[in-house]
Amino acid sequence: MLHNTTLSFIGSGTMAEAMIRGLLHRRLIVPERILASGPRPERGEELQRQYGVRWTTDNREAAQGADIVVLSVKPQVLPGVLSELAGTLQPEQLVLSIVAGARIEYIARVLNHEAIVRAMPNTPAQIGEGMSVWTATPAVTPQQREQARWLLSALGKELFVHDEDSIDMATAVSGTGPTYVFLVMEALVDAAVHLGFSRRVAQELVIQTVIGSALFARESGKHLAELRNMVTSPGGTSAEAIYQLEKGGLRTVISKAVWAAYQKSRLLGEMVGAGRPRPISPLESPGLTHWNSSGADRPAQTWGNAGRVLEADPTARPLK
Ligand SMILES: NC(=O)c1ccc[n+]([C@@H]2O[C@H](COP(=O)([O-])OP(=O)(O)OC[C@H]3O[C@@H](n4cnc5c(N)ncnc54)[C@H](OP(=O)(O)O)[C@@H]3O)[C@@H](O)[C@H]2O)c1
Repeated sequence: MLHNTTLSFIGSGTMAEAMIRGLLHRRLIVPERILASGPRPERGEELQRQYGVRWTTDNREAAQGADIVVLSVKPQVLPGVLSELAGTLQPEQLVLSIVAGARIEYIARVLNHEAIVRAMPNTPAQIGEGMSVWTATPAVTPQQREQARWLLSALGKELFVHDEDSIDMATAVSGTGPTYVFLVMEALVDAAVHLGFSRRVAQELVIQTVIGSALFARESGKHLAELRNMVTSPGGTSAEAIYQLEKGGLRTVISKAVWAAYQKSRLLGEMVGAGRPRPISPLESPGLTHWNSSGADRPAQTWGNAGRVLEADPTARPLK
């Protein structure tokens, strides 16, 4: 599917490298058909040496003539990169963005380009075990959709969704998901250390338990509650532990966390699309509840540069 395709990566960091590695490992494309760009020549030399791909520091040169142009820069760099590429792409080129929060409408508007795929991978993509959720504009042809599917499969599993709201929802579940899992794992390791295990042993017990449970859940195909019941004998240790977890409101906390991440994803989408400054930490400015999307230059109260708290905007509308 990708054999006669030429690919360019605008931004050659962790995710671009994960994709290149996955594509070459699965022999989906030859290295000569991949051109990557970035600001540091030493990074280019590294990628050339390791994977045999071509390299340039010129983003326009990288994008020129490629069948698929992958946008793999950080969100804060994206506006500059899009302005650089604006007006240089041909209608038949496919733009595939993995930039977190960057909405299709924004990319399409700045590039003046219609064929766009937006994907949201997650960090396990770095070892080919990611979950990427993606959507495409109507201008993306069936063949380009298949190409996008193959490309994303280099990062792990992929799932097509019909609208961008589902991307925001997936950002809160699978995109942010590793954070929840790592936090729970970390808490489990600390609890095991508290019991008296060494940290090394505690970590091994927890990691293997999580891997084993995830594989068991996938391979058994059983409902998760059924799997949990299987290890919950009446009056046993699991029942005792579950009682404490439920009493502590674990499910409610997780639900609230996922909802908050979803709201934040939508907010960031508006921020990136409006070319706003980066968010500051809620710790520096607590109580993020509003965002002014009226198009005025003044951001709402909890957004600013370099930790500076900006004044409140009375016209800000509440998040839905
Ligand atoms: N990492 C993840 O697991 C993950 C998961 C989901 C989504 N994403 C999204 O994937 C995108 C890439 O993330 P990443 O982790 O790969 O970031 P990264 O490792 O920082 O890679 C970004 C690359 O862009 C390069 N770059 C900087 N300015 C540039 C410019 N003007 N033109 C071209 N290239 C430029 C950087 O070069 P220098 O290093 O020389 O500055 C760097 O190599 C982000 O938008 C992120 O939101 C990442």
